[in-house]
Amino acid sequence: MVFFITGSPNIFVTNWKILVRETTKTKLNGDWHIDENALVHGGNIQSASQDWGIPEDQWLDLSTGISPFSYPVEDLPSSAFQRLPYLNQAFLAAAKQYYLPFDSCTDNPAMLPIAGSQIAIQTLPKILRDIGKDSSTESPVRSVLIPSIGYQEHQKHWQASPVDITLYPAMDIQVSNDAIHSELQKNPNQHVVVINPNNPSGVLFTPDALSEMLFAMGPDAYLIVDEAFIDLTPESSLLLSAQFRSWPKNLIVLRSFGKFYGLAGIRLGFVFAHSSIIRRLSSIIDPWSINGPAQAIAQRAFLDLSWQVKTREKIAHASSHYLDNFQDIVRITTRKIVNNGLFTSFWLPSEIANIIDQVLKSCGILVRLLPAGHCESIIRIGLFDVTCVEQFEKFSIALARLKKAIIHESATI
Ligand SMILES: Cc1ncc(COP(=O)(O)O)c(C=O)c1O
Repeated sequence: MVFFITGSPNIFVTNWKILVRETTKTKLNGDWHIDENALVHGGNIQSASQDWGIPEDQWLDLSTGISPFSYPVEDLPSSAFQRLPYLNQAFLAAAKQYYLPFDSCTDNPAMLPIAGSQIAIQTLPKILRDIGKDSSTESPVRSVLIPSIGYQEHQKHWQASPVDITLYPAMDIQVSNDAIHSELQKNPNQHVVVINPNNPSGVLFTPDALSEMLFAMGPDAYLIVDEAFIDLTPESSLLLSAQFRSWPKNLIVLRSFGKFYGLAGIRLGFVFAHSSIIRRLSSIIDPWSINGPAQAIAQRAFLDLSWQVKTREKIAHASSHYLDNFQDIVRITTRKIVNNGLFTSFWLPSEIANIIDQVLKSCGILVRLLPAGHCESIIRIGLFDVTCVEQFEKFSIALARLKKAIIHESATI
């Protein structure tokens, strides 16, 4: 039996059996910097290129959930680059129109733009811990419930704060919901982190379910809902939901600009929360954290309703077809498939998932391989623009090679 994890400089291949050790590599001043503690994320083409000897510009990156249909960034005013980027009122108004179109009551959440929702994921554990410290309550919140699978940065940053972490199962909505309620029954004084929809498991809580969850939580416990992938189904967002028109004090929603708009590089995200949380967050964020070009691009994108509608259609159309052939190849061994639009997750026996990961990498295609329990793994495949002939050919050639490798593997089992 072989143990497989991705993204390493140490790779041993025999008959498609590959042993890999996990590290994160980045290039600094031309030298590779290896951080043993950093989490491995998608999109690290530099590292894949070094491991596989394939030039960076020849990779098809399907290892992220970032849309390939990026919002156009042409014709930006030079002032966006020249001036110090104080938060522009027109940018803020456009963001409010997109995220809080029913902004008419005084009970709405306060909104804070940040340089990627990652910033909030890093800082909220510390802020909530400090609130616990000054709280006059007898028992400040010292525990947090986090999904066992999902964006690992949440767990990493809670680990750095002195709270007990309980991981709840996040592969199935009913099981997740029951597990959270059972924990809250034992102790309502726990923060809860929900990734909605979960990346990579696709689990999506309804606003009703999250409202019930909040009801079961103690008054000093916070519900943090990470809606990084919700733009394809905006009606599922708590920001648009009738239950939350009067914003609960202990609800925090995170939004990410980069995924749906296909512009992760401009680093933009938003926090929606009670003004006391927003005040604390903004006091530790620098006054120019959202650069001028990011504000100018997002301002246009938020108001461009026809682009948003067309792009949702494009994503739905592309994501419903491009993996048909892949699905055929892995059909017998696939245990479950979840299609979020921006990514599709396949639950497979780990041995098959590793073959897929390695064969695709050998063809210059990067996907995500994630552990999903005993002997099971998820292959998460991002979206690409199937109308791009070159990319489509690359994908087709890789699938033909994958088919051979899987037939060969099945014959040797
Ligand atoms: C679920 C989830 N939340 C948040 C983030 C952070 O996104 P950003 O900092 O680009 O807004 C990611 C990044 O992949 C993610 O997958």
